[in-house]
Amino acid sequence: MRNINLSVVFLFFMGLSCLQAQEKIPQVEELLAKMTLEEKIGQLNLLTPGGGVATGSVVSEDVEAKIKAGDVGGVFGVSSPEKVRQAQELAVKNSRLGIPLLIGSDVIHGYRTTFPIPLGTSASWDLELIKKSAQIAAKEATADGINWNFSPMVDISRDPRWGRFAEGAGEDPFLGSAIAKAMVEGYQGEDLTQPHTMMATVKHMALYGAPEAGRDYNHVDMSRLKMFNEYLPPYKAAVDAGVGSVMTSFNDVDGVPASGNKWLLTDLLRERWGFGGFVVSDYTSVNEMIKHGMGDLQDVSALAINAGLDMDMVGEGFLTTLKKSVEEGKVSEEQITKAARRILEAKYKLGLLEDPYRYSDEKRPSKDILTKEHRAFARKLATRSFVLLKKHNSILPLDKTSKIALIGPLANNQTNMLGTWAPTGDYKLSIPVLEGFKNVAPDAKITYAKGANISDDTIFAKKVNVFGSRIEISKESSEELLQDALKVAKAADVIVAVVGEASEMSGEAASRTDIRIPESQKKLIRELVATKKPVVLVLMSGRPLNISEEMELPVSILQVWHPGIEAGNAIADVIFGEHNPSGKLTATWPRNVGQIPIYYSARNTGRPAPEDHFDKFKSHYLDSPNTPLFPFGYGLSYTDFEYSDVKADKESFKPGEEITFTATITNTGNFDGSEVVQLYIHDKVRSITPPKKQLAGFKKIALKKGESKQVSFTLTADDLKFYNGQLEYVYEPGEFEFFIGGSSDNKMTGSFKLTE
Ligand code: BGC
Repeated sequence: MRNINLSVVFLFFMGLSCLQAQEKIPQVEELLAKMTLEEKIGQLNLLTPGGGVATGSVVSEDVEAKIKAGDVGGVFGVSSPEKVRQAQELAVKNSRLGIPLLIGSDVIHGYRTTFPIPLGTSASWDLELIKKSAQIAAKEATADGINWNFSPMVDISRDPRWGRFAEGAGEDPFLGSAIAKAMVEGYQGEDLTQPHTMMATVKHMALYGAPEAGRDYNHVDMSRLKMFNEYLPPYKAAVDAGVGSVMTSFNDVDGVPASGNKWLLTDLLRERWGFGGFVVSDYTSVNEMIKHGMGDLQDVSALAINAGLDMDMVGEGFLTTLKKSVEEGKVSEEQITKAARRILEAKYKLGLLEDPYRYSDEKRPSKDILTKEHRAFARKLATRSFVLLKKHNSILPLDKTSKIALIGPLANNQTNMLGTWAPTGDYKLSIPVLEGFKNVAPDAKITYAKGANISDDTIFAKKVNVFGSRIEISKESSEELLQDALKVAKAADVIVAVVGEASEMSGEAASRTDIRIPESQKKLIRELVATKKPVVLVLMSGRPLNISEEMELPVSILQVWHPGIEAGNAIADVIFGEHNPSGKLTATWPRNVGQIPIYYSARNTGRPAPEDHFDKFKSHYLDSPNTPLFPFGYGLSYTDFEYSDVKADKESFKPGEEITFTATITNTGNFDGSEVVQLYIHDKVRSITPPKKQLAGFKKIALKKGESKQVSFTLTADDLKFYNGQLEYVYEPGEFEFFIGGSSDNKMTGSFKLTE
């Protein structure tokens, strides 16, 4: 064990106390001074008049009357400048104090111009593109009246059974933090009063991505060490980037549901991290604490406000019980004033107190929404998100004059292109793969057949189809679909099969215990392979899948997630070589569900299994290797990259100094391409068991064929920090190892020391 550097700890806490000091805003204080207790409570109430997807059991009633009565602080599910103006007028002209509303929305991966699902965009590892996607989303959403967004979702997940894997940036806290920052900066810009920016909400605080058994909304039980080192960093990164609001999660943390957890919302978020914005509950998550076993509506509402929750989404527990709790001495008026102040400060920061109609410009939608540039960007971003999982016989990219059988239930489909949680998008505007192929390769001879249903299981399909028909079960029998496809396949030179998950097979409340491609499509794939024609699988999914069986087949595999509005064009761009795929996985893909949770940064056991032989009393399975199907950071290219000359510029360095790692990367194949160069480190000895490796830097570079580039990463002692057993953020001097490579699956190649 090594000594903790105390001066670093001291500076860290000093920094925090400076962050916490916040000045009061005179305009807000004047308003507060005029407000009755009821009016303050009204500001804490967030309603939805419907129109969106109601994910909870309650939809708000009498919203108009409540706004006029001053009982509403914000609404969501209302859009268009006209409707937002009407809503603001209800508040401004009819309520006693005329306080404007926050207008919220779930703008998760683009507004009307839908981008790939967030798990997909994360696979681009391109922070500039990700930030720009958030800027475009903000421009479109604000043109439609939205000023407050319920994104980014930054929940780390290592359990692909969990459907909301699709909405986050994968398994890694370092990459997840970088993406959280880029998203917040993209949405909020430099100045929230600018009409093209909107307030962001980091969600779901906290640990929502680690539910027991991968089942959505389930309990979470996690050590503080794991929380601090592996799950909390992206939320903190968003807070450090100045995120305006934080949304709580449905799960409990240390036995107390997040929406009523004082340690989480006050001690950690406000006091330790210095968060100065407001905290909103998730959809009826305050009420849901009744079922969690925390008391009746009055109890749970009091618990929430006392814990530091400021705004109650839809459930109206605050509205209906807080006054009584104040009268009974269960909640102080001061606590309610604090929460109301935070909501009013948000309105001030958005410029709403100055001009309530700032986001109600009727001229903007036609100018700012779904522009040609936005669609072109969506296409580009989608191509950057695709991950080439397997190359077989150099069949890709396809020649633009090929005779192609385009087969599969997702090959000529619109309803599944946008992916989960795209309520502001319109699938009818999306480009199916067949159309994209024709656009990009007009001289190719393309024939199409559906080949199979996404799933033949009607009960499963019914559950997936709750919000629209994602799994369409054809009138033809499965055998007829198959025979039709085989006829088409046999007449072609190459088969492209577009298969995988319907969009709503992932997302909220869409957990699966079997993460394979459904059997109907697996059978189709096997039969297509049996034709002996070259087969390319274009795979769509909202999570890492178990494709162990498909990996054994002689096929090439391109993972395209759910690519968004430009799906077909983007897929065609990559299949026909307009763009060489450069995405890398941001989460480990397991060989089977039994390996879950599986992630690259796991700690060593005291009995690590040897790689090359079976040794009885070691940490392994009897029926599966420990290794994943694909490691974190993995992704191929049409070309090949070679790493050489990997080194550090010194053998040891001290706090206050820098150390630089370099590698030369050469494009040795036949195509120009881009590579995500990754630096990993390993702390060899420390006071708590270290991860086997941890991402410490990444850079995406473009290389022409034959070209070499040197890439370097510079770290300081601060980059080697972690939370120790006392939850202090420290580095510990000692020996470290490192490597630079194209995925996490590499051996350490060098070492260095951090000295006192
Ligand atoms: C989801 C949130 C979302 C909210 C409002 C909830 O069910 O968990 O992520 O922001 O609904 O739509």
